[in-house]
Amino acid sequence: MTPSIPSISSEPDPLAAAYEKVPTHLFLDSLSAARALAAEVRELIESRAKEGRNAVLGLATGSTPVPFYRELIRLHRDEGLSFANVISFNLDEYCGLEVDHPESYARFMREQLFDHIDLPKQNIHIPNGAISGDLIFAHSRDYEEQIKAAGGIDIQILGIGRTGHIGFNEPGSSRDSVTRRITLDRVTRQDAAADFRGEENVPRFAITMGVGTILNARKIVLMAWGENKAEVVQKAVEGGITDAISASFLQAHQDARFYVDASAARELTRIKLPWLVGPVNWTPNEVRRAVCWLSTLLKCPVLKLTDEHYNEHGLSDLLSEQGPAYQLNILIFNGMQHTITGWPGGKPHVDDTDRPERAKPHPKRVLIFSPEPQDAIVAMGASIERLIEHGHEVTLVEMTSGSLRVADSEIAKFCNILLELATGPGPHWEKQADYAHDALEALETKGPFGEDTPILRQLKALVLRGELRDASAACKAAHDRVKMLDLPFYERGRYRRFNPTSEDVGVVTTLLREHQPHQIFFTGEGADPSSVSGICSNILKSALKGIGEEAWVSACSFWLYQSKREPLALDEIDMAVPLSPMQLARKSHALARFGTLSSTEAGVLEENRQSACHYDQLGLAEYEAIEAFQRWRRTPV
Ligand code: GLP
Repeated sequence: MTPSIPSISSEPDPLAAAYEKVPTHLFLDSLSAARALAAEVRELIESRAKEGRNAVLGLATGSTPVPFYRELIRLHRDEGLSFANVISFNLDEYCGLEVDHPESYARFMREQLFDHIDLPKQNIHIPNGAISGDLIFAHSRDYEEQIKAAGGIDIQILGIGRTGHIGFNEPGSSRDSVTRRITLDRVTRQDAAADFRGEENVPRFAITMGVGTILNARKIVLMAWGENKAEVVQKAVEGGITDAISASFLQAHQDARFYVDASAARELTRIKLPWLVGPVNWTPNEVRRAVCWLSTLLKCPVLKLTDEHYNEHGLSDLLSEQGPAYQLNILIFNGMQHTITGWPGGKPHVDDTDRPERAKPHPKRVLIFSPEPQDAIVAMGASIERLIEHGHEVTLVEMTSGSLRVADSEIAKFCNILLELATGPGPHWEKQADYAHDALEALETKGPFGEDTPILRQLKALVLRGELRDASAACKAAHDRVKMLDLPFYERGRYRRFNPTSEDVGVVTTLLREHQPHQIFFTGEGADPSSVSGICSNILKSALKGIGEEAWVSACSFWLYQSKREPLALDEIDMAVPLSPMQLARKSHALARFGTLSSTEAGVLEENRQSACHYDQLGLAEYEAIEAFQRWRRTPV
């Protein structure tokens, strides 16, 4: 989730310098960071053009640089920026992929940038992943030579992998490493699994510029968006220089900077523990964060914290402003206590002053937005069951079909069953047999990585729909309460390169106006903005913005459920729905209906248990598990 950041300043914070060993610029979102970077690059290109010289750019792949590339394309198209004097070197490429392979970085770069600007083809350099193993050494050496011959890289753009890699310099890469073949780390291959339709399809090796090659660039900018990068950004920026996190080597470069959005910055000390860095504006949120942190750090229930505890851990300011400890403890204890409710839709006919959700109206019209079909059930399966039991009119809104998650093998299985039925004794199903043959042929033609044809997309969506039907029934949600939006951005796209449009927003706007809900649950705040949940959350927010101040919007309450990667922190929880052992078991049964859960998603039950442990450690009641929600406040239009 997005942390509350007192004031966003894109300049590095001088007070944080004791922690941040590389200048770190914080941006409100990836778009503003991408614009700032594109403006710098533009200046470089244009000033070089005036001097009749080339600008040498080091380029990266992955979803992170996509907003930056889109801005460069815009500058070219709308403002006449020419790339005629640019020479480019890409960081890396997967081994074994031809340039036209849908997941090759060569193709990615063509589709995301090169096909849309006037950078001369002969100036583009990308390691060749298709060359045979014995030629890789010579190829890598030539690559280094070509960079030198171009005069070295003026500005190197980087993303960061969850292992802390830059390029593909996995843990263990040395400070002086050069372009070479590397074995990909397990985490990196897991992260690429969705792109390759399964971890087993992700190449094991890649060719990458070395850490030394990257550090030779005159200027380096590393970009990171979304909460799933927060932990590694913190280690790279604040930790020691170590080959376990190759991005940490940037600390020793004279002109390297990190450009991060609010979510990727959430683990930085100045954001997470601001009282250790400088004066704090003690808002209720900050106070809650500090007290929960202190209680967790000292493994001491909130009500037992003393003035000394506060003083000895950098919180004397808070103590003198809002203390003594006793008073702060009670305040936070009560606040946390009031987050707990078994009535996620509000409890009717009782005083709701201290309850997270209002009692009226009852029943409520509730919309639960799920970016891909499994998301909502993973995060809030038990709460969905509660809402339905309590008589609310719950609609599960499946924003996308989820077809990209379904493996080809599922389709092959279905078609082969169909063929057996159709060709065996019994019903005469020539048409069905033809259909199955067509689908199997489409699978064969596209190969494991090709684009799914419409018939394959449809079948995959149906497979997931079937799983969802079973899972939602296990949460007591009747199938007619499930609404499939099949948003076009997903149907037309591929992971890491979706292109949402106003058409998507239109679909959600219509749905909202039709339902006029009293309560909305959604996710994706703080997620990587190019991920499905990040995109879906932005689409919902744009729809709400467009609708403006219609009466139902102002009265509607909004709840964020946890995203795939990051459970809510204690201080972010505004509603905690406790689960009994039986409820947790039922949720587990519901999840088992999905054949496509990732290991992170399957880990949610453990996270639910962990959330309960955290409450227990604060000195609150001990539950089996908890599903947690954060209140989201709409900015009035
Ligand atoms: C791959 C690339 C890196 C990139 C990383 C992060 O590993 N080789 O250069 O930084 O992915 O990808 P993303 O930007 O999609 O999070």
